[in-house]
Amino acid sequence: MTETSKSVLTRSFMPATIRNEFPLLRNNSESPALAYLDNAATTQKPQPVLDAIMSYYGTVNSNVGRGYHRLGLAATERLEQARAVVQRAIGAARPEEVVFTRGTTDAVNLVAEVAGRRLVGRGDRVVVTGMEHNSNLLPWRRLCDDAGAQLVVASVAADGRVDMADFSAALGSGARIAAMAHVSNVLGTVNPITEMVAEARRCGALTVVDGAQAVAHRAIDVAAIGADFYCFSAHKVYGPMGIGVLHGRSEVLAELPPYQVGGGTVKAVSFAEPVSYIAPPARLEAGTPDVAGVVGLAAALTYLEEIGWERIRRHDESLVRTAVARLTELDRVRVVGDPAYDPSGIVSITLDGLHPYDVGGHLDQHNIAVRCGVHCASTFLDSLGLVGTVRISFGIYNTEEEISRVCEALRTVRPGFWTREHPTTRFL
Ligand SMILES: Cc1ncc(COP(=O)(O)O)c(C=O)c1O
Repeated sequence: MTETSKSVLTRSFMPATIRNEFPLLRNNSESPALAYLDNAATTQKPQPVLDAIMSYYGTVNSNVGRGYHRLGLAATERLEQARAVVQRAIGAARPEEVVFTRGTTDAVNLVAEVAGRRLVGRGDRVVVTGMEHNSNLLPWRRLCDDAGAQLVVASVAADGRVDMADFSAALGSGARIAAMAHVSNVLGTVNPITEMVAEARRCGALTVVDGAQAVAHRAIDVAAIGADFYCFSAHKVYGPMGIGVLHGRSEVLAELPPYQVGGGTVKAVSFAEPVSYIAPPARLEAGTPDVAGVVGLAAALTYLEEIGWERIRRHDESLVRTAVARLTELDRVRVVGDPAYDPSGIVSITLDGLHPYDVGGHLDQHNIAVRCGVHCASTFLDSLGLVGTVRISFGIYNTEEEISRVCEALRTVRPGFWTREHPTTRFL
């Protein structure tokens, strides 16, 4: 354990102290200071994560699973130690159930390509919910289009919750795959994921959970959730970009062919005989892995564990409930969905008569970073009848004072270029 991470254990959870451990925030000398409220898009990186990456490159860097020299063996050991950290952090049964990918998008595409193409044929059904991010929608849409299968969408009510009766009806008795978000990236709705997975499995579907927005906000227990696959990205959980996790149940992973083929996947290869591949996870991790990324991810998960999931949840809850209460007091502001029901760090709002980009631009003038638009989920925004939302998303370093700044700034926002000239324009 590093000195920095040890200190986290021994103090109370003070966002200002935590903020100090994030160089990008600590070194921000603007006045007012940057209020970074776009954590659902990506989180900032704490010093222990940066230290772990630097230390890996500064002391151990070598290729893994290949070199029969001390450095190569040490790098391989670091990779496998990090895999074990991830395994424990998400409650996986064994380290081999953890497959490293480039992120959630890569993980979902992997499952759609290697499992989906085997399972889904003409006339079959794949079920998604109406709140999916494009990364957990388009791989299934393409699969269905290519296979001549039907993509069935379980509807989402105005309060942002999946209609469970509709979800069951969509599954019917023969859906091949059910793919659903654990937490909505647009409204922060937490789906009853264990119940949904159980229902989908009862109907015989392979289950895929997009955990991209869940892992930074709650302790995840993939064994208890029971899905065949659970995916997430390191960069949304205070780790580095370009690395992510596909958790797969051992029995399911064992049946998957390689996603990509190449170095590190093969047991025996010759021109005369059929190629034989090694067991997962290596079979699904072709080529040189991002070892430093994996090490950074393990450091991020350790950092969060040391702060404590209960504290993180209480902090989340307090910020979301305060934000909802304060924002609903403002004229023109509407909170979309019901983020205070089971807070998960996201509050999405609209302002009457104002395009979300004008609001986002105005907040930026006050040094407040939020995301505005359709959040890569235009189909969900369509069903809500909205051009877009302004999404305020919290992390462990955010404070109530930052919520006050948002409210103050919202009082003075006026129609600008987007509201006047392009009131219905959207970008993804
Ligand atoms: C719910 C959800 N799924 C998937 C993704 C895609 O994640 P990545 O771009 O890290 O692959 C995101 C990113 O915003 C997300 O919020």
